[in-house]
Amino acid sequence: MKFVAIVGSLREGSLNRKVALTAAELCGPDTEMTVFEGLAGLPYFEHDVEVVAPPASVLAFRAELASADAVLITSPEYAAGMSGVLKNGLEWIVGGGELVDKPVAVVTASPATTGGARAREWTIETLRMMGADVLPESMSIPVAGAKMKGDRVVDEATLDQLREVLAAMARSAAEKAQPAAAEA
Ligand SMILES: Cc1cc2nc3c(=O)[nH]c(=O)nc-3n(C[C@H](O)[C@H](O)[C@H](O)COP(=O)(O)O)c2cc1C
Repeated sequence: MKFVAIVGSLREGSLNRKVALTAAELCGPDTEMTVFEGLAGLPYFEHDVEVVAPPASVLAFRAELASADAVLITSPEYAAGMSGVLKNGLEWIVGGGELVDKPVAVVTASPATTGGARAREWTIETLRMMGADVLPESMSIPVAGAKMKGDRVVDEATLDQLREVLAAMARSAAEKAQPAAAEA
């Protein structure tokens, strides 16, 4: 199975990137998770450009998502909402439809005690509008810095929650693959 993680922060020391890197390591032997690093390379969404000829960076992003059995979004909350780079990336996907019926889990990590829950809710609302199958195991990580060491999450309770998220992604992806397997 292939999972793709999108990190909604461009910061080098991003807590949310650490969550994605940790999740990639927690995946079972049958699953590979790649962390998409191209959000910064996407231009600002412009519908006229999309209609005429989407740029190569957008096509690469779409292809990466199309190849994924499930998607994990890890993102900060900025000014009580989703990060701008994440929203911009998702806008390029609306027309392509790569997330339609795809299992998607949303994890927000923040130094705040809310864990960025407002950004999680907003991201889920946007994903539902796009037709994604948003997993109820989506979660927020409050006081996230204290739960990490180096580049990884080390807090056991948070690791258990992340394992549940990954298990839900695998379950949902396997269910969706079943009809196709039966037809083959
Ligand atoms: C401009 C700005 C706005 C922020 N707004 C929020 C916010 O609304 N809610 C929140 O929980 N954290 C907020 N933060 C703190 C971020 O959650 C924190 O910087 C976090 O570490 C960013 O994610 P990252 O570590 O993955 O880059 C804000 C930070 C900045 C710089």
